[in-house]
Amino acid sequence: MLELIDKVPLSEIVVIRDKLLEKQRNGEKVYRLESGTPSFNVHPKVKEAMKKAIDENKTFYTEGSGIEPLKQVIAQKLARKNNLTAKSTKNILVGQGGMGTLYMLIHSLVGLGDKILIQAPVWISIKNISMLTGAEIIELPTKKELDFNWDLNELEDTIKKEKPKAVVYVNPGNPTGGVGDKEYMHKLAGILEKYGVYLVEDVAYEDIVYPGVEYETIFYLNPELFFPSFSMSKSQAFSGLRIGYTYIENEKILTRARKLLLYTTNGVNSVAQWGATEALKAEYDDYTREMVKEYQKRRDILYSALTSIPFFKMAGPPRGAFYLFPEIDEEKYREVMERKGVKVEPDANLGVHLQRYLLEHNIGSIPGHNFGSPHNFIRFAYSIATEYIEEAAEKIKEVLG
Ligand SMILES: Cc1ncc(COP(=O)(O)O)c(C=O)c1O
Repeated sequence: MLELIDKVPLSEIVVIRDKLLEKQRNGEKVYRLESGTPSFNVHPKVKEAMKKAIDENKTFYTEGSGIEPLKQVIAQKLARKNNLTAKSTKNILVGQGGMGTLYMLIHSLVGLGDKILIQAPVWISIKNISMLTGAEIIELPTKKELDFNWDLNELEDTIKKEKPKAVVYVNPGNPTGGVGDKEYMHKLAGILEKYGVYLVEDVAYEDIVYPGVEYETIFYLNPELFFPSFSMSKSQAFSGLRIGYTYIENEKILTRARKLLLYTTNGVNSVAQWGATEALKAEYDDYTREMVKEYQKRRDILYSALTSIPFFKMAGPPRGAFYLFPEIDEEKYREVMERKGVKVEPDANLGVHLQRYLLEHNIGSIPGHNFGSPHNFIRFAYSIATEYIEEAAEKIKEVLG
């Protein structure tokens, strides 16, 4: 286990964030496009629910897998939004954010001697959590021209050859903003069922899907084999409150997950759970929809700015999440930088070079290789307030134009 921990890298993303925070502390104006932190506040009535929980001394140990009122509200939400009628609230587990939920799920499915198939590029925690299980990781690249989804023939061939025990699919995607639509996901489900492969469906961005895409979560198609990982960080702007949840029908996996939950968190913060019990009610769905409308505005502002930069090869506005993941055209990039008198070494990692250049101008970004993509990609998050996105868009045009 220690060897596995030693092998897992600490995130380069944190180093970049720390540099921006340092600039901010020094009184400089910075544009935090490196981080996917929602700018919205939790709903005022959800805050009230948490204050009330404190006043009523709901601060004691809770059931290890989550308080019953929260699980009931989750069951209603699963029926309302995820096409699933829960067998029992016993099949619902509340984890420490999406991160804790993914850790619990992935560790319940694979271990040493198994193989696990993941997307590349992908939110790097998926890879690192998988590494900690000791399983062998198969990174199957997604295709930019397929909205950063897999070519399903290639997926099937890889499954036949590698025989992975589990697949993790993040949809909508981070860092790409790509979305697997309903038709695609049903085909994916068919392949996994054919070969009896488990699926962890990371749907942290399930609500952040822009108009024109037919999207649905698919774990309901086979809850013995497919397991969702939900997070309230984005949909309910709960990032610091750390609530995630899953639904597991498979008894063997459920028992393992319950043990992992018990011996890691032993129940998530009680006050946050009472807040979540309020926030997941149907009456707050509109609040989420309002946030998504605002994300769409931000996407369009930033997308339009990046499109005006000659060296970005844009794939079309992303269909989900709140990230833009443009490809950098090497020749044009070198031309622009040469014109500006900025040296680019012949073997430069272009994502890193551009990220450093932007950082000098107080704009945050993350080089694509951090997510397992080729070196000529870069990620921009547009989760900061719209007014800052507007300013950042102008600044990018000024600095890179
Ligand atoms: C793809 C993806 N999954 C899961 C998470 C987990 O979020 P949290 O642990 O804040 O709930 C994130 C957070 O950024 C994410 O990008």
